Amino acid sequence: MFSQLESRSQFLERKALVRKRDAVRNAPNAKVYINSEEYVNFCSNDYLGLGQHPKVKEVIKNKIDDLGFGSGSSPLLSGYSPECKALEEKFCDALGYENALVFPSGYQANIGVVSALVSRESTVVCDALCHASILDGMILSRSKMRRYRHNDVDHAQALVEAHSPCLLITESVFSMEGTLAPLVELRNLSRCYDIPFFVDDAHGFGVLGESGWGAIDGWETKNVKPDILAISFGKALGASGAIVLSSDKVMGHILQYCRSYRYTTALPPLICLSVLESLNVMEEEKWRLQNLRRNIRLFNQYAKDAALPLISQDITPVRSILIGDNRRVLEISGRLKERGFYVAAIRPPAVPENMALLRSSLHCDHTESDIIRLIASLKETLS
Ligand SMILES: Cc1ncc(COP(=O)(O)O)c(C=O)c1O
Repeated sequence: MFSQLESRSQFLERKALVRKRDAVRNAPNAKVYINSEEYVNFCSNDYLGLGQHPKVKEVIKNKIDDLGFGSGSSPLLSGYSPECKALEEKFCDALGYENALVFPSGYQANIGVVSALVSRESTVVCDALCHASILDGMILSRSKMRRYRHNDVDHAQALVEAHSPCLLITESVFSMEGTLAPLVELRNLSRCYDIPFFVDDAHGFGVLGESGWGAIDGWETKNVKPDILAISFGKALGASGAIVLSSDKVMGHILQYCRSYRYTTALPPLICLSVLESLNVMEEEKWRLQNLRRNIRLFNQYAKDAALPLISQDITPVRSILIGDNRRVLEISGRLKERGFYVAAIRPPAVPENMALLRSSLHCDHTESDIIRLIASLKETLS
């Protein structure tokens, strides 16, 4: 049976799709160390630097003796902790949802929620660039998948019209391209056809909205919010895990039917506490979001001045440049590393064929000089 492995790995070699890992030590101030060499980190999703925040570290140090580390079992056995409950309540209160469940990761949240909500008879309409975790949920559920062209509301409407009732799904900030979804238009579409709307806010939480509470920050009244909202703790909140929010009815169903919630060990209480502390820091230190936004604006401006082919000028921390060819993107990322910058080369299947990207993610801790130097190196390397 392993005879196919050889030909599959040859395929990856041929297409420059082989993945390799670096053992990376994350450090404060947007730095990483690899084999003791220091790099400016333009790769991480810890956009607000909360994963390295002294207050978050302090909470963990202070509580480890009381709480231990692991949660011990799945949430339906003994793994659901008071800290997890507090975290669910905090998000429900802040975002105005009736109910929530904390998952061990955003991947498990999306694959589990989508597959629990739809079945072989259902259709899901989603953006063509939605994350693998959403696609895998659809595959697992065997639902019919209809993907509209990226951010094309007219195409979404045509698919919804043809396939209602269906579930409509988008990301708020697209993880690889850094584009912003037309959330208000999509929400209106879902209201117009009376279909549920699911938003994956993995890269929007901490980044969008007046105070960083994500895609729905500022959407005041209940009926304008997405019916289901997923937030990963592994990005701007600097930890790991995720939360899904919705009505009592929907979350009650997910609790009963979601296999990736039931059949896995619950998120440890210490991580739940660290996320609660990260939320406090987010509120107390608003300068983090302001710095991040300043850095995004600077990056967009300098990239424009240097005529770099940025995918979008949106105010999101994922700033990607279209390269196209897999080998070339690896080469460019390697050259940037030689110059002290750690920047991700993104290849299929994370992006469509011939759409390889150089994905720079910005942090609140980058300095203007980091950005100027990166753009200068990019210009040199791309020319
Ligand atoms: C849009 C999106 N959704 C979900 C996930 C999964 O989140 P997590 O890293 O918490 O598993 C990711 C991360 O890769 C993502 O980019």
